[in-house]
This record gives sequence, C-alpha cells and structure tokens, in this order.
Amino acid sequence: MNTDAKAGHGTLEVPRLIGIKRDGGELTADELAALITGYLDDEVTDAQIAALLMAGVIRGFTDAEAVALTEVLLASGERVDLSGLSGPTVDKHSTGGVGDTTTLITVPLLAAVGCQVAKLSGRGLGHTGGTLDKLEAIPGFSTRLSIEAFRSQVERLGLAVAAASEQLVPADRRLYALRDVTGTVADPSLIAASVMSKKLAGGAEHLVLDVKAGSGAFLTDVDDAVRLAERCVAIGRAHGRKTSALVTRMSQPLGPAVGNALEVAAAVEVLRGERAGALVELSVELAATGLADTGVGADEAVRRSRRALEDGSGLERLAALVTAQGGDPRVVDAPRQVLPSAPVVVEWRPAVDGVVTGFGARRLGELAGVLGAGRQHPDDVIDPAVGLEVEVGIGDAVGPDGPVAVRVHAGDDAAARRVIAELDAVVAVADGPADPGPLVHHRIGADVDDAGRSTSG
Ligand code: URA
Repeated sequence: MNTDAKAGHGTLEVPRLIGIKRDGGELTADELAALITGYLDDEVTDAQIAALLMAGVIRGFTDAEAVALTEVLLASGERVDLSGLSGPTVDKHSTGGVGDTTTLITVPLLAAVGCQVAKLSGRGLGHTGGTLDKLEAIPGFSTRLSIEAFRSQVERLGLAVAAASEQLVPADRRLYALRDVTGTVADPSLIAASVMSKKLAGGAEHLVLDVKAGSGAFLTDVDDAVRLAERCVAIGRAHGRKTSALVTRMSQPLGPAVGNALEVAAAVEVLRGERAGALVELSVELAATGLADTGVGADEAVRRSRRALEDGSGLERLAALVTAQGGDPRVVDAPRQVLPSAPVVVEWRPAVDGVVTGFGARRLGELAGVLGAGRQHPDDVIDPAVGLEVEVGIGDAVGPDGPVAVRVHAGDDAAARRVIAELDAVVAVADGPADPGPLVHHRIGADVDDAGRSTSG
C-alpha cells in the first residue's frame, strides 16, 4: 500500500477535502473522482483516504456521494461484456454477514436452473467473511481470472467467481482492503458503491442483493438496511440492470460455520442435501429471486431452485466451478477430508440450562478473525482452517449436559482458550422461549418506483 508523501505537492487540496467531510459537508462527484484517481495514482496516501473514509463513516456519506463513488469505482477499470451469452445473466451479492455462505450454494443453484452467473466477489471485510477467502480454502482454487477467462468460463459452464483485479474495479479492490483494516466499512453509501461497482462491472443484466440487518451485519437496524437496499436498487436500475434486494436477518450466524474451510464444508453439505435450516432456505430464496427476475413465475422459480438442490444438479455445478478454477474437485465428495483442518478443536457448552435468546453475532465474526480467519493488517495471511462451528440457534435448548453449542477450531490451545473465555458473553442463554424472527424482513423487487423506493411490503 502507498505510504509515500507525494500528496500535498500537487493541485489537489486533499486536507481541505477531508475537512469538508469531517465537518459534515458533501463532496462533489468531481472531488470524489479526483481523490480516488489520485489514490490509484499514488498521489493521495492510504492515511489520507483512511481519514476521509473515517470522517464519512462518522458523518455519513450522502446518496449523491454513493452514486458518484459508484461511478468512480466503476470507471477505474473495465467492464465485462456478457451481451453475447445465450442464457439470462445473473449476479448476486451480500452486504456481509457472519456464517453467510449463500454464494457457494446460490451461484451453483442458479447455474443449474439455466442462468449464467458471472460473479465478482470480495474478501473478508471487517468481522464478516468473504467468498474469495472461502473459495481459496479449497486446495488449488484460484479467484484470479482475466476478463476473457471469466467471460468464457461463464459461457461454457454457466458460472464463474472472480476477484476484483487491476482490470476490474481496481479502485474498489484498494478501498476494500483499506476499509477492512481501518474500521471504515459501515457506511451505507460506501457499501452501496462497493457492491454496485462490482456488480455493474461484472456485466450481468439481473442483480440479486442480500442486504443484511442485525447484530452480525454492518447495519444493525432493519430500516437502515431497507434504505441501503433501496439505494443499491436505484443505482442498478439507473444502469439498466434489473435489480432485486432481500433484506434478511443477521441476528445470529446464518449457517452452522464461521470461518473459511468450515463454511465451504457447510455449503457442500447443503448441496449434498445433508443440512437443513436458514442457510438452505435463504440460498434457495436468493436463487429463486434471481430466476424469477429472468421471467420465470415466482412459484415455479422456487420449485426449480429447490429441485436443483435436491437432484444434485447444484452440487454438480459447484464441482464444475471448482474444477475450472483449479480447485480439488474431490471437495464436493468429501469436503472435510480435502479441506484444511485446524490442529485444535474445543467444544463449548454454556454453564447453565436454558434456551439461546440471542447472539453477539458481530463478536462471533470478530472471534473467528482473532483465530486467524480474517485480517487485522492488510498483509495478514489468513488461516483457512480456523473458525467456529455454531451448532445452535436462537430458541434452541442448551446447557452443560446438552448438545455442543460451539466448536472452536484453532491453530493452538492458547487461541482456543481466548475464544472459549468469551463465549459466555457472546451466546445469551436465559429461560425461554425465544424466537429468531423472520428470515426475510423485506423484499424490494421489480416493483419499485423511479427513485428505487419499494412499492411492495
Ligand atoms: N460487500 C462489498 O463488496 N462491499 C462492501 O462494502 C460490503 C459488502
């Protein structure tokens, strides 16, 4: 990352622009473009952009700044042209959650039902996991694809998952890595610009967004998440993309695993029909939403997506994806034998009987990071094997003689002990009953007005 001191010697008044944001003002599209372009050209430093981001996270970037930033990030690279492909092109993206492994399930399901899925993904961000880190837990898997390789894989196989690169949204790639380690993720405009620039560069005509709300999301409040979803949908529509969003529950880990290899194993087990629960339901729901947006009736879209799960065609598409991108294809047959595993596994149960009434879901994600599943520094190398298996959800009975509530997968005993010591505070147990609430809070579909505001419930 750039740390030299060139900035300040040119005509760009970086400190003044940071000051505008610090004081709650709004930057123009030209000012934002100059800052981000200067950053890519190493004329503006990491420290200056981090200060700008922090000022914006505290003061809030505006809707207009979200639109302008999206354009700047998008313009920093090329766009994939998928126009010649035969099937409907679809992409999905989550705004980030804990145990949120839907991409590894939804993308193969969409491909299995005839969509062509061209997905640009991200790495772990803050306390949340990232699809690229998860896929790279599969021995040999590469997420670095040229635009041509990305496009031709989608054409041949119906799916590809790639990283932003020097060619594709390079500005998001740099900002994303900086936001990850500077506590500057949680601003709706920054999230909207980051997500939508990748989705627009990826080239798909149909976009499905999973906007998370709750203690494990960047936005904890459902109304804030709805506004973020509306903002993203408006940007997608303005670019002529058919964009839908689901605002979904993130008050507890979505799936049974938090950590890269563990999440891959869980996703494979879902596609093998070996797991039930919220991860399965939401993955099918997201696939069905994407398929319905291509013109298939809503009920039929759910039926086909579920069938792709049950008849093994989703698993078969995941195997094709893994093979095409250099990964060990045996991962779909015996994930836990192929994926790296941690040397220390410690089981945890709460000290008192009761039911789980809530989670510090963000802290669970942070604890996976402490174990090594995420980055504290931009140059950190993550450990794909470590993480947490969370075997219980809100409303489940637990206790000292009950089922294992959490399994900590750690690199050594000290790391495991450090995490175990926090679990009493992170998993709330009390007298029941308790209900996790709805999985899908809100849907924003094709029926939105021109401002992107939902006209449905
Ligand atoms: N996913 C992204 O790609 N960017 C964000 O800012 C959050 C989630």
